[in-house]
Amino acid sequence: MNGLYHLAEIPTPIVERLVARALELRLGAPAKRFPGRALGLLFFNPSLRTQASFQRAGGKMGLDLVQLSGGAGGVWGIETREGVVMDSTNAEHVREAAGVLGRFVDILAVRAFAQGLDIDVDRADPLLNGFRRYAGVPVINMESVLYHPCQALADWTTMNQLEIPRKAKFVLTWAWHPKSLPLAVPHSTLTMAAQRGMEVVVHRPKGFDLLPSVMEDVERLAAASGGSITVSDKLDSLHGADVVYAKSWGSLDYYGKPVAEAQNRAPLRSWQVTRKWMEAAGPRARFFHCLPVRRNVVVADEVIDSSASSVLEQAENRLHAQIAVLESILESRKAK
Ligand code: CP
Repeated sequence: MNGLYHLAEIPTPIVERLVARALELRLGAPAKRFPGRALGLLFFNPSLRTQASFQRAGGKMGLDLVQLSGGAGGVWGIETREGVVMDSTNAEHVREAAGVLGRFVDILAVRAFAQGLDIDVDRADPLLNGFRRYAGVPVINMESVLYHPCQALADWTTMNQLEIPRKAKFVLTWAWHPKSLPLAVPHSTLTMAAQRGMEVVVHRPKGFDLLPSVMEDVERLAAASGGSITVSDKLDSLHGADVVYAKSWGSLDYYGKPVAEAQNRAPLRSWQVTRKWMEAAGPRARFFHCLPVRRNVVVADEVIDSSASSVLEQAENRLHAQIAVLESILESRKAK
């Protein structure tokens, strides 16, 4: 592997090998060690699981860690546009920032969310793609505007761990949240489930469709894997689900207009995963969420605290899946 931006760019047999390796690690196999190699972790946005799991992975693998963050007291503001006169707030161009970090580390992992002002700017994933273009070393996406592949790989691992069949029913359900949340997790969750060959349902209110270009990818992946994808706003679409994966995201119809977006979302507060929703799904249904989650907003205590909840397994599998990715990248580089 030469980096990880979007899980769907990795051929399915390789994804399956990563998942199998993650499960070996989970069962206690030692991580391969690469002393003297370095992993850069650059966070422009907050994180608990991703930071902790990559730091722990680096320690288990004998890697030097170079940890940096954006914002006040962190790295300089980074410009991504080409050919601009840099007389505004950003002090450094991604060409130099990425090129410099690529001189210090063997792998660079970056988290960079959307600016949230203009979808046509954000959909190009400018920071992540700037680092990919100019770092000169493999880049791992730790959540960008469009994708969160490390979460998706951990979720696939969790489904295999729980022996959820490939053809099982996977429902991604929208839930209300006080803020307009990013699209990366729902995009990666859907592409992962489609690539795995599942019967995928998106349960969302009208007006909360995901990016059409991503949905086209999901349809292509589902067709190739023997899976399917449907979209519904009806609660009975949860019926027979093996996985109920909750996530909130903002409406593309109001992108960059937070006040109007919040007004549009306000009547949807009842969209919460409650016991009634899990009963509508049926007895096989497991509850998934990537975390962090707002209790009794996105999911009721009675669901997240129940034996149907897999959220801590998903979080633990972040560590194992990321070690599998780091091993694969470092092994490929050693072979050159
Ligand atoms: N799921 C996830 O990426 O968690 P963090 O944002 O805390 O890293």
